[in-house]
Amino acid sequence: MVRHICMFKMKEENKEANIARAIELANELLKPIEYIRRFEVVVNSEKDKPTNYELSLIFDYASSEDLEKYRVHPNHVKFGDFIKSVREDRACIDYEFEENETMQVLLNRKSTKNFKPDPVPEYIIDKIIEAGLWAPSGMNRQAGIIVAITDKALIERLSKMNADIMGAKMDPFYNAPCVLLVLAKKEVRTYVYDGSLVMGNMMTAAEALGVGSCWIHRAKEEFESEEGKQILKEIGIEGNYEGIGHCVVGFPASLPESKQRIEGRVFKVK
Ligand SMILES: Cc1cc2nc3c(=O)[nH]c(=O)nc-3n(C[C@H](O)[C@H](O)[C@H](O)COP(=O)(O)O)c2cc1C
Repeated sequence: MVRHICMFKMKEENKEANIARAIELANELLKPIEYIRRFEVVVNSEKDKPTNYELSLIFDYASSEDLEKYRVHPNHVKFGDFIKSVREDRACIDYEFEENETMQVLLNRKSTKNFKPDPVPEYIIDKIIEAGLWAPSGMNRQAGIIVAITDKALIERLSKMNADIMGAKMDPFYNAPCVLLVLAKKEVRTYVYDGSLVMGNMMTAAEALGVGSCWIHRAKEEFESEEGKQILKEIGIEGNYEGIGHCVVGFPASLPESKQRIEGRVFKVK
Protein backbone atom coordinates (compact mmCIF):
# COMPACT_ATOMS: atom_id res chain seq x y z
CA MET A 1 0.00 0.00 0.00
CA VAL A 2 1.10 3.58 -0.62
CA ARG A 3 0.05 6.40 1.66
CA HIS A 4 0.02 9.94 0.29
CA ILE A 5 -0.21 12.76 2.82
CA CYS A 6 -0.43 16.31 1.58
CA MET A 7 -0.64 19.24 4.01
CA PHE A 8 -1.55 22.80 3.20
CA LYS A 9 -0.84 26.04 4.98
CA MET A 10 -3.57 28.39 3.93
CA LYS A 11 -3.39 32.12 3.10
CA GLU A 12 -4.76 34.35 5.87
CA GLU A 13 -7.36 35.95 3.62
CA ASN A 14 -10.71 34.07 3.83
CA LYS A 15 -8.94 31.18 5.53
CA GLU A 16 -11.96 29.53 7.17
CA ALA A 17 -14.11 29.78 4.05
CA ASN A 18 -11.31 28.40 1.87
CA ILE A 19 -10.73 25.45 4.19
CA ALA A 20 -14.46 24.67 4.08
CA ARG A 21 -14.47 24.95 0.27
CA ALA A 22 -11.38 22.71 -0.01
CA ILE A 23 -13.09 20.00 2.07
CA GLU A 24 -16.22 20.32 -0.04
CA LEU A 25 -14.21 20.06 -3.27
CA ALA A 26 -12.16 17.11 -2.00
CA ASN A 27 -15.37 15.23 -1.23
CA GLU A 28 -16.92 16.16 -4.55
CA LEU A 29 -13.91 15.61 -6.83
CA LEU A 30 -11.44 13.29 -5.13
CA LYS A 31 -13.54 10.94 -3.01
CA PRO A 32 -15.24 9.32 -6.05
CA ILE A 33 -11.88 8.34 -7.60
CA GLU A 34 -12.33 4.59 -7.38
CA TYR A 35 -8.73 3.59 -6.73
CA ILE A 36 -8.38 5.72 -3.58
CA ARG A 37 -8.55 2.98 -0.93
CA ARG A 38 -8.65 5.30 2.07
CA PHE A 39 -9.88 8.86 1.87
CA GLU A 40 -9.47 11.25 4.75
CA VAL A 41 -9.48 15.04 4.85
CA VAL A 42 -8.48 16.48 8.21
CA VAL A 43 -8.22 19.94 9.68
CA ASN A 44 -5.60 20.86 12.27
CA SER A 45 -7.17 20.78 15.71
CA GLU A 46 -4.84 23.45 17.11
CA LYS A 47 -5.84 26.35 14.94
CA ASP A 48 -4.10 28.86 17.18
CA LYS A 49 -0.66 27.33 16.56
CA PRO A 50 0.72 29.60 13.86
CA THR A 51 3.38 27.13 12.73
CA ASN A 52 0.97 24.28 12.02
CA TYR A 53 -0.40 23.42 8.60
CA GLU A 54 -4.17 23.70 8.60
CA LEU A 55 -5.50 21.14 6.17
CA SER A 56 -4.33 17.67 5.17
CA LEU A 57 -5.37 15.03 2.65
CA ILE A 58 -4.54 11.46 3.65
CA PHE A 59 -5.09 8.93 0.88
CA ASP A 60 -4.05 5.28 0.51
CA TYR A 61 -3.51 3.54 -2.82
CA ALA A 62 -2.99 -0.13 -3.58
CA SER A 63 0.17 0.76 -5.55
CA SER A 64 2.41 3.65 -6.62
CA GLU A 65 0.92 3.23 -10.14
CA ASP A 66 -2.49 4.17 -8.70
CA LEU A 67 -0.92 7.21 -7.03
CA GLU A 68 0.61 8.24 -10.37
CA LYS A 69 -2.79 7.86 -12.06
CA TYR A 70 -4.29 10.05 -9.32
CA ARG A 71 -1.71 12.79 -9.91
CA VAL A 72 -2.87 13.31 -13.50
CA HIS A 73 -6.57 12.64 -12.88
CA PRO A 74 -8.60 15.66 -14.17
CA ASN A 75 -10.46 15.92 -10.83
CA HIS A 76 -7.15 16.12 -8.99
CA VAL A 77 -5.87 18.76 -11.39
CA LYS A 78 -9.07 20.76 -10.81
CA PHE A 79 -8.71 20.42 -7.03
CA GLY A 80 -5.03 21.43 -7.36
CA ASP A 81 -5.96 24.60 -9.27
CA PHE A 82 -8.24 25.66 -6.42
CA ILE A 83 -5.83 24.79 -3.61
CA LYS A 84 -2.92 26.56 -5.35
CA SER A 85 -4.95 29.77 -5.35
CA VAL A 86 -5.67 29.65 -1.61
CA ARG A 87 -2.59 28.06 -0.05
CA GLU A 88 0.59 29.68 1.12
CA ASP A 89 2.62 26.49 1.34
CA ARG A 90 2.34 22.72 0.95
CA ALA A 91 4.27 19.68 2.15
CA CYS A 92 3.84 16.11 0.99
CA ILE A 93 5.05 12.69 1.94
CA ASP A 94 4.41 9.38 0.15
CA TYR A 95 5.44 6.11 1.72
CA GLU A 96 4.84 2.41 1.28
CA PHE A 97 3.45 0.41 4.16
CA GLU A 98 2.18 -3.05 4.93
CA GLU A 99 -1.51 -3.02 5.57
CA ASN A 100 -2.64 -5.00 8.61
CA GLU A 101 -2.66 -8.61 7.46
CA THR A 102 -6.21 -9.33 8.67
CA MET A 103 -7.48 -6.19 6.96
CA GLN A 104 -5.70 -7.23 3.81
CA VAL A 105 -7.44 -10.61 3.86
CA LEU A 106 -10.84 -9.04 4.54
CA LEU A 107 -10.43 -6.50 1.74
CA ASN A 108 -9.01 -8.98 -0.78
CA ARG A 109 -11.59 -11.77 -0.46
CA LYS A 110 -13.68 -12.26 -3.56
CA SER A 111 -16.15 -14.97 -4.47
CA THR A 112 -14.59 -17.60 -6.69
CA LYS A 113 -17.00 -18.83 -9.34
CA ASN A 114 -14.66 -21.03 -11.36
CA PHE A 115 -12.67 -23.76 -9.62
CA LYS A 116 -9.87 -26.09 -10.65
CA PRO A 117 -10.74 -29.73 -9.94
CA ASP A 118 -7.56 -30.17 -7.81
CA PRO A 119 -8.33 -31.17 -4.22
CA VAL A 120 -7.52 -28.80 -1.36
CA PRO A 121 -5.16 -30.48 1.16
CA GLU A 122 -7.09 -31.75 4.16
CA TYR A 123 -5.01 -29.77 6.67
CA ILE A 124 -6.14 -26.57 4.92
CA ILE A 125 -9.78 -27.67 4.93
CA ASP A 126 -9.41 -28.42 8.65
CA LYS A 127 -8.10 -24.91 9.31
CA ILE A 128 -11.00 -23.37 7.39
CA ILE A 129 -13.41 -25.47 9.46
CA GLU A 130 -11.68 -24.44 12.68
CA ALA A 131 -12.17 -20.78 11.78
CA GLY A 132 -15.86 -21.54 11.23
CA LEU A 133 -16.17 -23.19 14.63
CA TRP A 134 -14.65 -20.14 16.29
CA ALA A 135 -17.32 -17.77 14.95
CA PRO A 136 -19.26 -15.93 17.64
CA SER A 137 -22.78 -17.16 18.38
CA GLY A 138 -25.86 -15.88 20.19
CA MET A 139 -25.56 -16.71 23.90
CA ASN A 140 -22.70 -18.99 22.92
CA ARG A 141 -25.22 -21.62 21.77
CA GLN A 142 -23.01 -22.45 18.74
CA ALA A 143 -26.02 -23.43 16.65
CA GLY A 144 -24.07 -23.93 13.40
CA ILE A 145 -22.67 -27.28 12.30
CA ILE A 146 -20.38 -27.99 9.34
CA VAL A 147 -20.49 -30.96 6.98
CA ALA A 148 -17.25 -31.16 5.00
CA ILE A 149 -17.95 -32.96 1.72
CA THR A 150 -15.23 -34.04 -0.67
CA ASP A 151 -17.09 -37.15 -1.85
CA LYS A 152 -17.64 -36.51 -5.55
CA ALA A 153 -20.89 -38.44 -5.77
CA LEU A 154 -22.46 -36.49 -2.91
CA ILE A 155 -21.23 -33.14 -4.29
CA GLU A 156 -22.80 -34.00 -7.66
CA ARG A 157 -26.04 -35.07 -5.98
CA LEU A 158 -26.28 -31.80 -3.99
CA SER A 159 -25.30 -29.77 -7.05
CA LYS A 160 -28.16 -31.34 -9.03
CA MET A 161 -30.65 -30.71 -6.20
CA ASN A 162 -29.44 -27.11 -5.93
CA ALA A 163 -29.70 -26.55 -9.69
CA ASP A 164 -33.21 -28.05 -9.71
CA ILE A 165 -34.33 -25.62 -6.98
CA MET A 166 -33.05 -22.78 -9.19
CA GLY A 167 -34.53 -24.32 -12.32
CA ALA A 168 -31.05 -24.22 -13.88
CA LYS A 169 -28.92 -26.71 -15.75
CA MET A 170 -25.44 -25.51 -14.69
CA ASP A 171 -23.30 -26.73 -11.76
CA PRO A 172 -24.12 -24.20 -9.02
CA PHE A 173 -20.95 -25.27 -7.15
CA TYR A 174 -18.72 -24.21 -10.06
CA ASN A 175 -16.80 -27.50 -10.09
CA ALA A 176 -15.53 -26.98 -6.51
CA PRO A 177 -13.76 -30.06 -5.11
CA CYS A 178 -15.03 -29.41 -1.58
CA VAL A 179 -18.36 -28.25 -0.15
CA LEU A 180 -18.50 -27.07 3.46
CA LEU A 181 -22.19 -27.29 4.15
CA VAL A 182 -23.42 -25.23 7.10
CA LEU A 183 -26.65 -26.13 8.88
CA ALA A 184 -27.97 -24.63 12.09
CA LYS A 185 -30.12 -25.83 14.95
CA LYS A 186 -33.53 -24.25 14.53
CA GLU A 187 -34.43 -24.21 18.22
CA VAL A 188 -31.70 -21.62 18.86
CA ARG A 189 -33.21 -18.17 18.39
CA THR A 190 -30.12 -16.81 16.60
CA TYR A 191 -29.52 -19.85 14.40
CA VAL A 192 -29.52 -18.02 11.04
CA TYR A 193 -27.05 -15.42 12.33
CA ASP A 194 -24.88 -18.06 13.99
CA GLY A 195 -24.75 -20.14 10.81
CA SER A 196 -24.05 -17.09 8.65
CA LEU A 197 -21.10 -16.13 10.82
CA VAL A 198 -19.70 -19.65 10.47
CA MET A 199 -19.96 -19.13 6.70
CA GLY A 200 -18.29 -15.71 6.91
CA ASN A 201 -15.41 -16.95 9.04
CA MET A 202 -14.78 -19.84 6.67
CA MET A 203 -14.73 -17.62 3.57
CA THR A 204 -12.28 -15.25 5.28
CA ALA A 205 -10.09 -18.13 6.45
CA ALA A 206 -10.06 -19.59 2.93
CA GLU A 207 -8.74 -16.28 1.59
CA ALA A 208 -6.09 -16.13 4.34
CA LEU A 209 -4.93 -19.63 3.38
CA GLY A 210 -4.79 -18.91 -0.35
CA VAL A 211 -7.94 -20.83 -1.25
CA GLY A 212 -10.93 -19.57 -3.24
CA SER A 213 -14.43 -19.78 -1.81
CA CYS A 214 -18.02 -18.80 -2.47
CA TRP A 215 -21.32 -18.89 -0.58
CA ILE A 216 -23.79 -20.97 -2.55
CA HIS A 217 -27.35 -20.52 -1.44
CA ARG A 218 -30.54 -22.63 -1.39
CA ALA A 219 -29.28 -24.96 1.37
CA LYS A 220 -32.54 -24.23 3.23
CA GLU A 221 -34.69 -25.57 0.39
CA GLU A 222 -32.27 -28.43 -0.23
CA PHE A 223 -32.54 -29.79 3.32
CA GLU A 224 -36.24 -29.12 3.67
CA SER A 225 -36.80 -31.66 0.89
CA GLU A 226 -37.29 -35.36 1.63
CA GLU A 227 -34.11 -36.15 -0.32
CA GLY A 228 -32.14 -33.62 1.76
CA LYS A 229 -33.50 -35.03 5.02
CA GLN A 230 -32.56 -38.52 3.85
CA ILE A 231 -28.99 -37.37 3.07
CA LEU A 232 -28.63 -35.91 6.58
CA LYS A 233 -29.92 -39.17 8.04
CA GLU A 234 -27.40 -41.15 5.97
CA ILE A 235 -24.59 -38.91 7.29
CA GLY A 236 -25.87 -39.44 10.83
CA ILE A 237 -27.19 -35.94 11.51
CA GLU A 238 -30.33 -35.96 13.60
CA GLY A 239 -32.29 -33.02 14.89
CA ASN A 240 -34.09 -29.97 13.62
CA TYR A 241 -31.53 -28.36 11.35
CA GLU A 242 -31.95 -25.74 8.65
CA GLY A 243 -29.54 -25.40 5.73
CA ILE A 244 -27.76 -22.04 5.91
CA GLY A 245 -25.33 -22.19 3.00
CA HIS A 246 -22.68 -24.11 1.14
CA CYS A 247 -19.20 -22.67 1.42
CA VAL A 248 -17.61 -24.12 -1.69
CA VAL A 249 -13.81 -24.09 -1.64
CA GLY A 250 -11.03 -24.87 -4.06
CA PHE A 251 -8.27 -23.29 -6.08
CA PRO A 252 -9.52 -20.62 -8.50
CA ALA A 253 -9.28 -21.55 -12.19
CA SER A 254 -9.39 -17.86 -13.09
CA LEU A 255 -9.00 -14.59 -11.22
CA PRO A 256 -12.26 -13.84 -9.34
CA GLU A 257 -14.09 -10.72 -10.42
CA SER A 258 -13.68 -7.70 -8.15
CA LYS A 259 -17.04 -6.07 -7.40
CA GLN A 260 -17.25 -2.41 -6.50
CA ARG A 261 -18.85 -1.58 -3.19
CA ILE A 262 -22.12 0.37 -3.46
CA GLU A 263 -21.87 3.96 -2.26
CA GLY A 264 -24.01 5.41 0.51
CA ARG A 265 -24.10 2.34 2.75
CA VAL A 266 -22.45 3.99 5.74
CA PHE A 267 -24.14 6.45 8.06
CA LYS A 268 -22.04 8.02 10.78
CA VAL A 269 -23.67 9.60 13.77
CA LYS A 270 -21.14 11.48 15.88
C1 LIG B 1 -26.25 -15.01 1.33
C2 LIG B 1 -25.46 -15.18 0.07
C3 LIG B 1 -25.91 -16.01 -0.90
C4 LIG B 1 -25.14 -16.21 -2.06
N1 LIG B 1 -25.57 -17.12 -2.98
C5 LIG B 1 -24.83 -17.33 -4.09
C6 LIG B 1 -25.20 -18.33 -5.02
O1 LIG B 1 -26.16 -19.08 -4.82
N2 LIG B 1 -24.46 -18.46 -6.14
C7 LIG B 1 -23.36 -17.69 -6.39
O2 LIG B 1 -22.75 -17.83 -7.43
N3 LIG B 1 -22.95 -16.75 -5.50
C8 LIG B 1 -23.65 -16.56 -4.36
N4 LIG B 1 -23.22 -15.66 -3.44
C9 LIG B 1 -21.99 -14.90 -3.67
C10 LIG B 1 -22.31 -13.49 -4.15
O3 LIG B 1 -22.64 -13.52 -5.52
C11 LIG B 1 -21.09 -12.57 -3.88
O4 LIG B 1 -20.78 -12.59 -2.52
C12 LIG B 1 -21.37 -11.16 -4.34
O5 LIG B 1 -21.54 -11.10 -5.72
C13 LIG B 1 -20.25 -10.20 -3.95
O6 LIG B 1 -19.04 -10.61 -4.48
P1 LIG B 1 -17.79 -10.89 -3.54
O7 LIG B 1 -18.14 -12.03 -2.63
O8 LIG B 1 -16.66 -11.25 -4.50
O9 LIG B 1 -17.51 -9.66 -2.78
C14 LIG B 1 -23.95 -15.49 -2.25
C15 LIG B 1 -23.50 -14.65 -1.24
C16 LIG B 1 -24.20 -14.51 -0.08
C17 LIG B 1 -23.66 -13.64 1.02
